[in-house]
Amino acid sequence: MTSKGIDHSGLTFRQDYFGDLEAWQALVDLLKDTFDIDIGPLQEMGGPDPSSMPFGWFDRDGLLAANLSAFAMPLVINGRTLNAAAFQSGAVRPPWRGRGLYRDLTRKALAWCEEMGFEAIALYTDKPSLYEPYGFRSLALHAYSGKAPAASKAQTPARRLDPLDAADLTLLRAALKAREPASDVLAVCQSAAMFLINTQLDPGVRVSWMEQEQAAIAWKTEPPGRLILLDIVTADIPSLTSIIGALDIEPDAVDMLFCPDKLGWNGEARSLDGHTHFMIRTPGAITFDRPAMLSPMADF
Ligand SMILES: CC(C)(COP(=O)(O)OP(=O)(O)OC[C@H]1O[C@@H](n2cnc3c(N)ncnc32)[C@H](O)[C@@H]1OP(=O)(O)O)[C@@H](O)C(=O)NCCC(=O)NCCS
Repeated sequence: MTSKGIDHSGLTFRQDYFGDLEAWQALVDLLKDTFDIDIGPLQEMGGPDPSSMPFGWFDRDGLLAANLSAFAMPLVINGRTLNAAAFQSGAVRPPWRGRGLYRDLTRKALAWCEEMGFEAIALYTDKPSLYEPYGFRSLALHAYSGKAPAASKAQTPARRLDPLDAADLTLLRAALKAREPASDVLAVCQSAAMFLINTQLDPGVRVSWMEQEQAAIAWKTEPPGRLILLDIVTADIPSLTSIIGALDIEPDAVDMLFCPDKLGWNGEARSLDGHTHFMIRTPGAITFDRPAMLSPMADF
């Protein structure tokens, strides 16, 4: 094998395999074994993003040896909607590493994105050098922290949603479909599947429903006294004061894990250096108009 070759002996290539539930389960197993995350519950929540295009090498027993998936993830960056794709679920099982399988899958996924006409591709990684040769560049991420504003008391307090409950899931999916981006600086346009699975991956995440505003708020309080605002899913973003009022909490401080340009509140931007890299591949360089990060509920 040359340094840029591929050794796929004993393996079969498949793409677009999510319709086959055994192959889907093989991906669930690969991600559990590699990253210790369980995307299994996604099937109960409407399934993976319908635009998903997985690329994988399977062994004779149906074990997934290597995978990389692409999906459409339209983004708003600096007020402009970008027809972007994202890469996720990139992993190769240890016995098959160093054979060029990941390089092969990366090239296949890039070719698919080109064919589909995406303007940009985004990904998260702790290994940026893996993607730099393909033109991906890391963007600096910032959260916002500051004093909590006084709450404006809500007539009706928000109620907790359980995304695994059928009625709550229907409500949440409708809100995700109708949502406006949570920020004009950096946000996903929809990305419903990622939001839903992220409610399950971190047990600390709560989702509360503001009935009057028709808004779902993803949040945490860790440690007590700090409101960590993760995302807001609605067609018309309410102010932070009314959100705090509806959540019926009295935090001293707020951490906002997306740019607060639509919230009527301003914290101090705090660099997330050392955090997983958010990389993007675009024809031109991107600089955010304001420090920003993508909501963790869009994490993929
Ligand atoms: C990282 C990983 C996907 C590489 O898979 P692989 O099949 O062994 O990679 P390949 O043999 O196809 O090598 C592809 C290229 O990546 C480079 N590479 C391999 N492992 C790397 C690592 N850990 N860090 C940086 N670069 C790496 C190789 O040198 C090769 O470079 P080249 O194309 O210039 O020759 C695999 O080790 C893995 O699954 N790791 C755990 C999960 C993970 O980190 N996933 C990706 C993060 S998003």
